[in-house]
Amino acid sequence: MSGRLPYLNSRLQGLGTTIFAAMSALAESTGAINLGQGFPDYDGPSEVLEAARRAIGEGHNQYPPGRGIAPLRRAIAEHQRRFYGLEFDPDREVLVTAGATEAMAAAVLALCEVGDEVLLFEPYYDAYPAVAAMAGATHKVVPLRPPDWTFDEADLAAAVTPRTRLVVVNSPHNPTGRVFGRDELAAIARLCTAHDLLAVTDEVYEHLVFEGEHLPLAGFEGMRDRTVTISSAGKTFSVTGWKIGWVCASPPLLGAVQTAKQYLTYAGGTPFQHAVAAGLALPDARIAAVGNDLRARRDRLCGGLRAVGLEVLEPESGYFALTDIASIGETDATAFCLAAPERCGVVAIPTHVFFDDVDRARTLVRWAFCKSTATLDEALRRLEALGRD
Ligand SMILES: Cc1ncc(COP(=O)(O)O)c(C=O)c1O
Repeated sequence: MSGRLPYLNSRLQGLGTTIFAAMSALAESTGAINLGQGFPDYDGPSEVLEAARRAIGEGHNQYPPGRGIAPLRRAIAEHQRRFYGLEFDPDREVLVTAGATEAMAAAVLALCEVGDEVLLFEPYYDAYPAVAAMAGATHKVVPLRPPDWTFDEADLAAAVTPRTRLVVVNSPHNPTGRVFGRDELAAIARLCTAHDLLAVTDEVYEHLVFEGEHLPLAGFEGMRDRTVTISSAGKTFSVTGWKIGWVCASPPLLGAVQTAKQYLTYAGGTPFQHAVAAGLALPDARIAAVGNDLRARRDRLCGGLRAVGLEVLEPESGYFALTDIASIGETDATAFCLAAPERCGVVAIPTHVFFDDVDRARTLVRWAFCKSTATLDEALRRLEALGRD
């Protein structure tokens, strides 16, 4: 193609979202251990894997219904009731998607007009500004400040304008691991009801909580019918490649999201939908085991990072730990991460992709701990080289 890239594509490239692929490619070409992208290098519950094999063997291999197979929609509704006491009608208020990523894209495309504003908490998961741009919307950020990564209610109120349409709430949060508490969620709920805003929540780490308790925003006063609740099976069952996600929302919102979703993938992942339905029916202890196991991996990685002199911002949930590399005399996270494969054989992620204000990310590096003990130990052994430089 000659000349300028079309407007949307150049806006997306400007967001710099290719960092994860670039860092994974760097890991591959240098033989470095990849603590960049967040995917486990171990399997989740065997019952869930077996259910997928069974579903393929039983011939569940053609298009599923657009809203997802009925057993999975029922299992999702039952999951919301069992864990949070929230009632959703599986036929009218639940939609299965190609991961949380498609759910988020469909929600923002469905609910935003060109020129609308989307509120994000910064740092943000990098897909959010991208899907806002795809919808022709713009985003505004409300800073979460370290070390506790909370927000100032006045900043939140000040970010609202007449063009604000919706707030994206990611708790448990990537990349900080923060789990919003009752007061923070109540403040968001007050803002949404006062200004008649919609909320779209990304709860993919809901079962990977080490400190505190995950509370869905939809359970707060006035939020049931103005919240699009999104989650997915990838993290809960360590099957990130399956891309089975879902949306729970009131019928008008759900219908709008489905209208957008049907022209993205229409539908997909039939055998995996059967397997996730089986997974969501597992006893509490089996579901909690994935998070408990990950807590030990967090402790292992964070302890090791501290031992090489890095300041660790200990996460309350999820797959990732942030470190401040200023503690080892480094001044530039991007330069540090680009040099790390050669210097110590490990790949990590510079965090500027999660910020509008890249100065706030200058010395923050993100490390994934959703890796086998052997991988984590080898990465930590290699990182000892940092102390010897
Ligand atoms: C906050 C957040 N949302 C969504 C996703 C992607 O979810 P899915 O694989 O279900 O599309 C991720 C994956 O890293 C994430 O961290």
